[in-house]
Amino acid sequence: MIDIHNHIIPGIDDGAQTLADALVLLQLAVDDGITHLVCTPHMHAGRFNNCIETIRPGFKGLQKAAAESALPIRLAMAAEVRISDDFIIQLKQNKVPFIGRWQNKAVVLLEMPHDRIPVGIENLLDWLAQQDILAIIAHPERNKEIILRPGRAQSLAKHGALFQLTSASVAGHFGESALKTAHWFLENELAFCVASDAHNVKNRPPLMGAAYKTLEEMGGKELADKLCLNNPASLCETLF
Ligand SMILES: [Fe+2]
Repeated sequence: MIDIHNHIIPGIDDGAQTLADALVLLQLAVDDGITHLVCTPHMHAGRFNNCIETIRPGFKGLQKAAAESALPIRLAMAAEVRISDDFIIQLKQNKVPFIGRWQNKAVVLLEMPHDRIPVGIENLLDWLAQQDILAIIAHPERNKEIILRPGRAQSLAKHGALFQLTSASVAGHFGESALKTAHWFLENELAFCVASDAHNVKNRPPLMGAAYKTLEEMGGKELADKLCLNNPASLCETLF
């Protein structure tokens, strides 16, 4: 499987804190059946002040350590970018790493606040489209406004948004509302892919294997492969 969202680069966000933590998490990813992993630390101005230049050295260090440990996993880097004015500024400065390409457009992994859908997000999506950029919205099934009114996601999809569900939500480890909303996305064929959003071994491990199994039970191997392997592979083809 290909995991396009996790916080495994040590010491630059609320994910792995040390290289040792990161290597344990990587081993867990390997054991979970992940062969390719895109490291996506938070870029969240005022909280995690990252950009392409702060992410790259940590990524290179992790890649080197993984190779020295002979871990059978390919690594690439991108970011999970919080929607804010800073996002637009950093984008214009070429400081936002893209997560790949889809339909001839560059793709960015975007994070909404957890409690609401930001006002004007449709305008943002339209503006991005004008720059030949598409957005993948990270974990919409954990957004409080979408949980209450999942139909709002239809409108975002009409403006070009793709959606990444969290493996733990799909597998039922993130509570009833996340599970129900994740299934709403699956039933309405709005899920582009599933990714781990793994942060640590104890509370936020990868769980891609569990999600794959759930998807297989729901829609067969075809659905599980599409969301955990084929769509992420096409998206990230240029990264690895
Ligand atoms: Fe994340």
